Amino acid sequence: MIIILTGAPGAGKGTQADLLADKLGFKKVSTGDALRRHIKEGTAVGKRAQSYMSEGKLVPDEVLLGILQSELESAQGKPVLLDGYPRNVAQAKALQEIVGPQGISGVFHLDLDKSLLVERISGRRTCINCGASYHLLTSPTKVEGFCDRCGSEVVQRPDDHEDKVRVRLEVYSKETSPILDFYKDLGLYHCIDGSQSTEKVYDSLAAQLRSLA
Ligand code: AP5
Repeated sequence: MIIILTGAPGAGKGTQADLLADKLGFKKVSTGDALRRHIKEGTAVGKRAQSYMSEGKLVPDEVLLGILQSELESAQGKPVLLDGYPRNVAQAKALQEIVGPQGISGVFHLDLDKSLLVERISGRRTCINCGASYHLLTSPTKVEGFCDRCGSEVVQRPDDHEDKVRVRLEVYSKETSPILDFYKDLGLYHCIDGSQSTEKVYDSLAAQLRSLA
């Protein structure tokens, strides 16, 4: 089973993917996390991706295809939750080729207004070591500036600065949002009100996922 979580930057995809992985046993496949790991480890993929990510642009499709294939292989039969892939129609078509016409069980779009997206991104802080994500107002760390999970420093992601966020939102609107119609045409699209609390978004998602099983 493959489920796609989609939505604009800051919509809450990563937060929900972590919860669904913890509570419902999904394997979370986040292409953003995978790319950040490559950058941290200094791999060839990371070196290629860095300039695109720091500018808020999409990393080339062929780089993502390699990452996707290896992440799917490592799922070893577990249900998969895709967070951050596909990001354009070409990637959506590539995914169809890999998993076949019946491979995707549902596409869940976390929908919310731009002003709320900006609020969420500007308050986000991320652990430099384990990648855990916090928010200054809605989910702060217990000790200011340090990760609850591993104790490392939490910082603002380089692409969460205002000028980069503007680019990312434009890229979402031009390149990623057309995938919504692509999946509507396939009858796989579900809209979730992403402006609700984390718990309420989770409950809506979990209820719809159970109805697919
Ligand atoms: P990626 O890491 O995927 O970033 P993104 O899609 O821009 O999404 P974000 O991580 O910003 O937001 P999110 O929706 O996960 O929100 P979160 O849960 O953290 O990609 C980064 C870059 O990598 C891209 O720009 C691109 O360069 C590259 N890339 C990745 N995939 C690619 C691909 N397929 N092709 C090409 N390039 C690719 O929540 C945000 C904040 O809000 C947090 O602080 C959280 O605590 C808070 N929050 C979440 N939910 C709620 C709620 N319900 N109520 C209140 N606060 C909430």
